[in-house]
Formats: sequence, C-alpha cells, structure tokens
Amino acid sequence: MNRLVCLVLLSSFSIFLGEAYDPCCAQPCQNQGVCLSKGADAYECDCTRTGYYGENCTTRKFTKGFSQKSELFTFIKSSLKPGPNIVHYILTHYKWIWDIINKVSYLRDAIMRYVLMSRSHLVESPPTYNADYGYKSWEAYSNLSYYTRTLPPLPLNCPTPDLPNAKQVVEKVLLRKQFIPDPQRSSLMFAFFAQHFTHQFFKSDFKNGPAFTKALGHGVDLGHIYGETLERQHKLRLFKDGKLKYQVVDGEMYPPLVKDVQVEMHYPPHIPENLKFAVGHEVFGLVPGLMMYATIWLREHNRVCDVMKQEHPDWDDERIFQTSRLILIGKSLSHHSQQEIPAFLKTYIRTTNSPVAPRRE
Ligand SMILES: *[C@@H]1O[C@H](CO)[C@@H](O)[C@H](O)[C@H]1NC(C)=O
Ligand SMILES: *[C@@H]1O[C@H](CO)[C@@H](O)[C@H](O)[C@H]1NC(C)=O
Repeated sequence: MNRLVCLVLLSSFSIFLGEAYDPCCAQPCQNQGVCLSKGADAYECDCTRTGYYGENCTTRKFTKGFSQKSELFTFIKSSLKPGPNIVHYILTHYKWIWDIINKVSYLRDAIMRYVLMSRSHLVESPPTYNADYGYKSWEAYSNLSYYTRTLPPLPLNCPTPDLPNAKQVVEKVLLRKQFIPDPQRSSLMFAFFAQHFTHQFFKSDFKNGPAFTKALGHGVDLGHIYGETLERQHKLRLFKDGKLKYQVVDGEMYPPLVKDVQVEMHYPPHIPENLKFAVGHEVFGLVPGLMMYATIWLREHNRVCDVMKQEHPDWDDERIFQTSRLILIGKSLSHHSQQEIPAFLKTYIRTTNSPVAPRRE
C-alpha cells in the first residue's frame, strides 16, 4: 500500500516538474509485444507473431485479424500446442506412465527431444535485441561481444522502481537458522555442476560493462575447461597424447600450478603459491566446488585421451586433443540436458544413464 502511494506521489511529482517519462517505461505491451514510443505521450505495440492483437496485444486472435499467412500459422500452432504449464504438469505427474515410457528407448528419446526442442524454441534465434539495441539490427545480430536479449531494453531514463532493502531480502529469503534437507535429496554437487556449466557462456566482460560477454562461443564450447583463447589453451596443454597438463598429489591427478603454466587466475590474497591451481576459467580458484568440477573434467579429458590413444595409436597429439574435447562437449551436454535439467524440473522422464556413467571397459 505504502509503495503504491509513493509511486503515485513520485509520478505526480515528475509531472509537476514537467518531466514526462517515455510511455514505454510502463511496459504496456503484453505477451511479448514490442513497445514503440511515438513522441512523449503515445506508444504503439507491435504484436506481430504474438498470437494477440489490440492496443496492448492483449486480445487473443481467433478467426479475424490475420494480416499474413505467418500470423495464421502462429495462431494454429499456439492453439494446438499445450501450454508450458500443461506440459510441465504432465511431465511431473503420472509416474507409472513415465516408468513405462522410460523403458521404451525410442519413445523416451522422442519425448526427451520434444521437451528440449520446445524449451529451446522459447528463445528467439537468430538473436534480436541487446542492451543497446531495442530494435532489430545487423549490429545486434553480428556483434558477438553483446549478451543477446529476447525483449528490448527499457528506454533510457525510466524511473527506478522502488526496490526493497537488500539486507532485508537476504534475511527473509536466504538466511537459515537450521538445516533443511532438499526434498529431492540432491546435494551441493548439483548446484556446483550448474554453476560450473553456466560459467562457460555467462562470462561478463567487466571492462566493457555488464552488457558484454567474453565468452564468444555463446554456448557449450567448454571454454571454461580449455581456456577462452587459443593462447590460454596452449598454456594448459601438455602437447603429448592430447592431454592437459596436470600434477600428481598423493597418487591422484590435479590441475597444474599457476607458477608452472603462467595463466592468469584470480585467488584470494592469502592462498600460497603451491595451492594455486591453473584451469580453463580464471575465477574457478575462488570457489572450492568449481575447482572440484574443474579437476573432475581434467581427469576425464586425460582419461578419454588414454582411450583414444589405444584405439588410434597413429593419431598425433592435436587430433587426440581435438577429438577428446568434442567427446567432452558431448558428455557435458548430455549430462546437463538429460540429468541436470530433468532433476531441476522434477520431471519423471529420464535416460538410463546414471549421472556418473559406469565405465564400460
Ligand atoms: C492499454 O494499456 C494502457 C496503459 O496500461 C491502458 O491505459 C489502456 O486502457 C490499455 N488499453 C486497452 C485496450 O486495454
Ligand atoms: C561490439 O560493440 C561494442 C560496443 O559498441 C564495440 O566496442 C565493439 O568493438 C564491437 N565489436 C565488434 C567486433 O565490432
């Protein structure tokens, strides 16, 4: 209630000062319609391909109002397609049906493919907007330094919303006084896997600002394991049998030391030189769970190299390295999409592989 009064006061105050905000600041266009401001107090919603029409793209299209064939297709598709809530309900209920489906591999694979594709279709491709371009442009499409956005940014100089106090949010939402086990009985490994995985493409370029990324692959390229540049990759490679550099501590394989390979890593100041490990991503030394996964993937890469070398004794270092990297990209994607995502969404559909696949030797 208080906030509403504040907002009303604030807006009347700015009107009083003669300072009118861009009408698109209020985000009047619904259903992913795009707002175009026309002067200081008028706007127009572009409802193209949203399946809606009207001043604010709020009226569902039925039989009338299709200006193009593509509009009609959008309508037919969206009418036949079950909504995301229905799909989610089906995937998270009727366990007995899923138990049967999971045993029929072609059925299971087809449904899994549908789930993954329908999720990826939620994201516009090719990319449309970014922080500097609220309209479609070649620059937004071709300049890979930008993070892309599905919706255009708000106009500049919109009023800042009345945000709650950060300390209060932390205390209300995050602070716990007693241990509450996860109802799905997953562990911290789960959260660290996701964090490790997403750092390969969410890699903000703080030199250029939060709108920019340094991860120019924009996807699962395992740049966080092999380094984002060729120079870093070369410093991390052993150049023998395709392997990455490593050290052996108490009979176990660990990443090499920063002082031995000379790649940039961020560590807190008190960490001694003999505990500064060097891996693909420069911040992984800051969080133990991330360094743990970096170590697991290093071991996996070198294990795959051993298998490759046995299968193809005539392959050189480069070919073994490149092939092992592709295999790890596949493993990482498959683990993420077939184990992490279903566990995250609590869906019953599963592949038969257990999270750590048993070695078939
Ligand atoms: C569209 O949104 C504006 C601003 O929220 C509102 O004033 C107007 O009545 C809406 N128009 C329709 C047709 O709903
Ligand atoms: C991408 O855009 C930014 C900001 O305009 C610019 O600094 C950078 O040079 C551009 N990158 C390329 C490859 O053109």
